[in-house]
Amino acid sequence: MDALKRPPAEQYNKMTIENIKIRKAVETDFQSVDFLYQQNYKLYSKNISNDYKNPPIPTLPKGTFLNITEDKNALLLVAEIDEKVVGILYAIIEKDDGDDWTHPYNRVSVEEMSVSKDFSRQGVGTMLIENTQNWAKKKGINNLIVLVHAFNKNAINFYLKNDFRDYSIKMVKKIQEKTH
Ligand SMILES: CC(C)(COP(=O)(O)OP(=O)(O)OC[C@H]1O[C@@H](n2cnc3c(N)ncnc32)[C@H](O)[C@@H]1OP(=O)(O)O)[C@@H](O)C(=O)NCCC(=O)NCCS
Repeated sequence: MDALKRPPAEQYNKMTIENIKIRKAVETDFQSVDFLYQQNYKLYSKNISNDYKNPPIPTLPKGTFLNITEDKNALLLVAEIDEKVVGILYAIIEKDDGDDWTHPYNRVSVEEMSVSKDFSRQGVGTMLIENTQNWAKKKGINNLIVLVHAFNKNAINFYLKNDFRDYSIKMVKKIQEKTH
């Protein structure tokens, strides 16, 4: 499309969101996936600077990325619109055999997800979750789980809207100022 004749961004998004494709990541997606990972690191380093370092933002090592794409117990999805990656979701299968006190479990943990700001609130994240659910169901897994930072109200709203419910609450108490 001629750049000068492009419709405004909002209209463009609405027009093309129908062309969305959710698929597993492949090697050539590395840069796009890394870019969206960095979007999340920026958010974390801004809001939880005790845990996450300031920029320069660490990049996802390519070896790690490739291992994930080949791991049968992991899922790295990309959402693509007009050949542009606009969202990612990385999930792993968590298993436990149980013991005298607890039942065994088998669940899918959403480790990271990110949607490009230009395409937020248009259903991309929801489609990534739905595809993850289908992948989990095919493996006979009944639950998805995610750990969300308390500051991240947008993400909490997103997961609530996608039928996730509170499971446990991790609390912290600062007992001394940082010494390093
Ligand atoms: C959370 C995230 C993945 C949602 O993706 P998305 O494609 O925008 O989500 P959807 O369009 O499918 O769902 C939209 C719903 O999510 C919530 N939401 C998403 N972005 C929001 C925002 N900026 N402000 C408030 N609510 C927001 C709302 O409930 C919204 O519903 P609404 O628009 O009807 O109010 C995306 O906002 C993102 O990448 N955030 C930054 C990274 C992040 O926090 N990742 C999760 C780490 S656990």
